Amino acid sequence: MSVAHDSTVIVGAQWGDEGKGKIVDFLADKADVVVRFNGGNNAGHTVKADGKTFKLHIIPSGVVRKKLIVIANGMVVDPEVLLEEIGMLKEMGYEPNLAISEKAHVIMHYHKLFDSGSDKNGKIGTTGRGIGPAYSDKAKRTEALRVIDLVSGGFRAKMEKILEDKKGELLKFGIVRSAEEFKEYKTAIAEEYENYADSLRPYVSNTAVLINDALDSGKNVLFEGAQGTLLDVDHGTYPYVTSSSTCAGGVCTGAGIGPGKIKKVIGVTKAYTTRVGEGPFPTELKGKEGDVLREAGSEYGTTTGRPRRCGWLDLVVLKYAKMVNGLTGLAVTKLDVLSGLEKIKICIAYEIDGKRTEHFPSSAEALEKAKPVYVEMRGWDKWNEREAEEIVKKGVKGLPENARKYLEFIETHVGVPISIVSIGPGRDETIVV
Ligand code: GDP
Ligand code: IMO
Ligand code: MG
Repeated sequence: MSVAHDSTVIVGAQWGDEGKGKIVDFLADKADVVVRFNGGNNAGHTVKADGKTFKLHIIPSGVVRKKLIVIANGMVVDPEVLLEEIGMLKEMGYEPNLAISEKAHVIMHYHKLFDSGSDKNGKIGTTGRGIGPAYSDKAKRTEALRVIDLVSGGFRAKMEKILEDKKGELLKFGIVRSAEEFKEYKTAIAEEYENYADSLRPYVSNTAVLINDALDSGKNVLFEGAQGTLLDVDHGTYPYVTSSSTCAGGVCTGAGIGPGKIKKVIGVTKAYTTRVGEGPFPTELKGKEGDVLREAGSEYGTTTGRPRRCGWLDLVVLKYAKMVNGLTGLAVTKLDVLSGLEKIKICIAYEIDGKRTEHFPSSAEALEKAKPVYVEMRGWDKWNEREAEEIVKKGVKGLPENARKYLEFIETHVGVPISIVSIGPGRDETIVV
């Protein structure tokens, strides 16, 4: 018999970098287990807590609360990056209590080179971390290596066979240039990954069993999404997406749980919009207005340092995110960044080829043509540090009237209650509604 559990999924409602790391850290106080279920070190989740700044790429943000954290089967793991991150956290005094799924796929050295090599014209503007090539091999089935292969005997033979199949590609990308170099490459990669395997072996297990046992025994499990709804390989702005399932549905396949086990789904959204990499973005502000948001919000990528493209909040996007994720709540972050603006715009519909629509289009070409239909709202004054503390103490009613109106408009228009408002990067700068 299972005991009633609590389980919350945190997903990005936009194009990533919504502040999922901060929200997961905030909620992880009451969690027993924090699970990442998709993506790899293309993610960059920043958490500011305990007087420190944590920049996490692959380790779930629950590490900051010293919870049990899981890298589940839906992820792709770069062992080199993972070991570096474990080392960094140990040095900071946060030794991870970590379980890694034996079914997660391994990002190999060549995946990273294939990624940066094939995307060098900025077609998608990937993070160059080998994410697409690793997921491609997963779907292809015959040239993939999983964590279970890495840590079991027989890794070298399996990997050598795969490298034989990939010889043409290795030559094409200039990773090797001769038979001699190919032989050296095989040996070097085998040695490198065998060393990683020795370090990672103690963490590896069947994490679906661990997660389901936790849920069945009444534990509180948080599922930490990476990227955002519009970067989902099925539901995002294809082909300008990542290669994994970033939406709530990805939790079931990416962690190995049934849909009935999910209790709440919180969509994290900034109070405006950002995007890194290529692809359509209807509310993008290309001139000075965009620069103002970028500087006020320090909108530079955590993973690649690229300036993020900035624009107004898009409620067509949020309504779409509500639909494909089944959102039960919204967490609105970076409300502080809008403070001091005289006027703020919110997009409520698009005009495409002269026709108004409130539905998010399925093709990048249609989205490229979408002209946002805006509602203009009055802004509010900046608050100082002392006033911010007061706001957090008082809750939403402590916010300036126009900021409250802004939030009410979002809530009413999208039809999802706002459960959290964030007014700064720190753990304490958070209002529970
Ligand atoms: P994630 O990928 O969704 O976890 O988001 P990132 O960490 O990549 O980007 C969000 C950035 O905004 C981080 O630098 C956070 O520290 C910061 N941040 C989060 N919430 C707030 C907020 O309410 N106000 C401000 N000013 N910064 C925030
Ligand atoms: P977090 O978890 C923002 C973007 C890349 C590129 C596209 C595909 O921090 O929100 P990939 O390397 O995944 O093949 O790149 O997706 N992208 C992100 N953008 N936040 C992220 O993660 C992202 N992860 C990938 O910029 O446009
Ligand atoms: Mg990020």
